[in-house]
Amino acid sequence: MLERFQVLQHASIREGMNVLEIGCGAHALTTVPLAYLVGETGRVVAVDNSRWRFFEEITSVTGLKHRIIPLKLDARELPFPFRAFDLAVLVHGIRSLKSEETMIKVISEMLRVADRAFIAESLPIARNERQRAHLELYNLREDIFEALFGEKDDLHYPTIEELKELVEKAGGRVIESGTFEPGLPHYLAYIPREYVERIKDVKKRADLLKRWDAAYEKWKKGAKHPPVGYIIAEKI
Ligand SMILES: C[S@@+](CC[C@H](N)C(=O)[O-])C[C@H]1O[C@@H](n2cnc3c(N)ncnc32)[C@H](O)[C@@H]1O
Repeated sequence: MLERFQVLQHASIREGMNVLEIGCGAHALTTVPLAYLVGETGRVVAVDNSRWRFFEEITSVTGLKHRIIPLKLDARELPFPFRAFDLAVLVHGIRSLKSEETMIKVISEMLRVADRAFIAESLPIARNERQRAHLELYNLREDIFEALFGEKDDLHYPTIEELKELVEKAGGRVIESGTFEPGLPHYLAYIPREYVERIKDVKKRADLLKRWDAAYEKWKKGAKHPPVGYIIAEKI
């Protein structure tokens, strides 16, 4: 949540804003700092199509729940007929959209319903051993999910150039972009070895177990957040 707070410092959020959040996730990691930053007169409409498990509990204990409107829906088709938000944000969520087609559709919906879109994602860059440890374990997730469920999730992080290309393909113009170093530990890439042991395909299992063991050796000595890239865009 601290890292999300840092990310949002680059989103030009002002008190009283009406913000749409895409892919808020079960832990409201971005939703809570967003609700804090928009102040008492602001609102956050938090959208997710599936993961809500701890959302209610977390937003309640922060005392900011009354500023948040949760909506369970698919962000490929937003139910807002006109521009209804000052800002639409997608923070650490592009990698969960599974395909380029969905990414473009979701970004074009964000640009349709909000004055501006803010997209932030970790970058596939390691400037030190600890960031490399995070990336090596994180980069196993795409293959592990595919081998287990036949569907990719947590796709490899995009470069800032790839993010810009997605925005342009979605009919947007990049008006600001940048990168920053969170300087924080990052342990959310962890995926238990037992998950990998459940892969049925013998060859894939052996290969992924070998890669998991090597990545885990580095990861357990400490993992750090890689640099984060962000983009502010508007509809052309
Ligand atoms: C990495 S997670 C949560 C990221 C969260 N914003 C954060 O800061 O931690 C991305 C979320 O996007 C959601 N998601 C994926 N595809 C979606 C779609 N088509 N519509 C709405 N939400 C979607 C997933 O259910 C997941 O909860």
